[in-house]
Amino acid sequence: MGKTIVIVGGQFGDEGKGKIVDFLTEKADLVARFNGGNNAGHTVVIKDDVFKFHLIPSGIIHKDKLNIMGNGMVIDPKDIVGEIEGLEEKGYNISDKNLAISGNAHVILEKHIEEDKATGGKIGTTSRGIGPCYKDKIARTGLRMIDYVKEDNKYARKLKPLVKDTSLMINRYLDDKKNILLEGAQGTLLDIDHGTYPFVTSSNVIAGGACTGLGIGPTKINKVIAIMKAYITRVGSGVLITELGKEEQTKNEDSIDELKKTLGEEGLSYLKRKIHNKSNEGDEYNQGRLLRFNGMEYGTTTGRPRRCGWFDVLIAKYAARVNGLNAVVMTKLDVLDDFKKIKLCVAYEYKGTRLTEFTNNVKILEQCRPIYETMEGWCKDITKVKEFKELPKNAQKYIERIEELTKIPVCIISVGPERNQTIILRKEDLF
Ligand code: IMP
Repeated sequence: MGKTIVIVGGQFGDEGKGKIVDFLTEKADLVARFNGGNNAGHTVVIKDDVFKFHLIPSGIIHKDKLNIMGNGMVIDPKDIVGEIEGLEEKGYNISDKNLAISGNAHVILEKHIEEDKATGGKIGTTSRGIGPCYKDKIARTGLRMIDYVKEDNKYARKLKPLVKDTSLMINRYLDDKKNILLEGAQGTLLDIDHGTYPFVTSSNVIAGGACTGLGIGPTKINKVIAIMKAYITRVGSGVLITELGKEEQTKNEDSIDELKKTLGEEGLSYLKRKIHNKSNEGDEYNQGRLLRFNGMEYGTTTGRPRRCGWFDVLIAKYAARVNGLNAVVMTKLDVLDDFKKIKLCVAYEYKGTRLTEFTNNVKILEQCRPIYETMEGWCKDITKVKEFKELPKNAQKYIERIEELTKIPVCIISVGPERNQTIILRKEDLF
């Protein structure tokens, strides 16, 4: 009996979906992505090989899996051809046997990128033409893949054999009771309808988007799982209630590559020690910097330093609500290893009242302050832990407290980027 599992981001994107999708792909027959475009970035580490994908589902690096890019996506022809050629250079054979692109997916054109660069500044978009392309789609003036590949240019020729009726393909896999993994890009709070509008992306990121973005019915979905980091990050603008330090401070920081260049390895570890000490003295900006350093929180698509903050329970509950979550995958728990105290945001203070439910009304959010519960850290390296009961007691308590507050079970904990740094708690939620 096959299963259909939807994976979504439970926060603002960058939750580490790439690794988890890759992990679950081992038992999947088909992996399909349903929204967004090359605004997303997935990094998958396999031994010494680092794969960075923006468009193609990471299932492509497994043999004998079909990967689908759904009608809900927007695709930049140059970028997709670049990814295909990059994989071919590494020895992967790409054909319609392992990759199919929906003919109904929309094509990002140069004019979309130009428009995004000119108008996306306020939101802090990735400048990849995403919003303008979706705008043309909704206005019914867009160009779809099925029409694009009729053109005589080198990208169109390369893509033509891959463009298919992908809804039909997925439904055939469903009929054959195969294991199907449906992958959403970005995160719940960036959803066009349910995110912190207008500081959102232009597609439906939430689990419901899997149906419209792929052409399958809601009755076919068995499990919905959100990936959440053990803390929270955001790139681009928009409110982040538990942010540590000011948005401007983070934006003005150097990227990790620049820091390495100017400070060298030795200077960098000195800086890290300084940040570590200040962080444990309770300095908020340095707590954010420590999360950024330990978690390598720099964008895969733009290289921007990500804004970091404590885990927000209200956001997690909201994600549970709008996605109908069965379980949560908690990633990057090891990033908290250095902290003596760890905070959980359990409510917001709004004009003297206590809010316990998230609202996506940005005007209200802008006036909210976090109310924290402080937990003891574990101050131990957990990157080699394989079982929940081997985790330090305080790390177990942290996970259990989140489960208790959100009422959603944690099914996997990730303690590092490698596939084997994965602790499984609930097999029944997986394939
Ligand atoms: P756009 O998707 O490029 O239009 O950008 C809109 C907003 O979504 C900006 O705040 C981006 O930083 C954010 N965003 C888009 N894609 C991602 C992602 O994959 N991870 C995190 N944030 C993203």
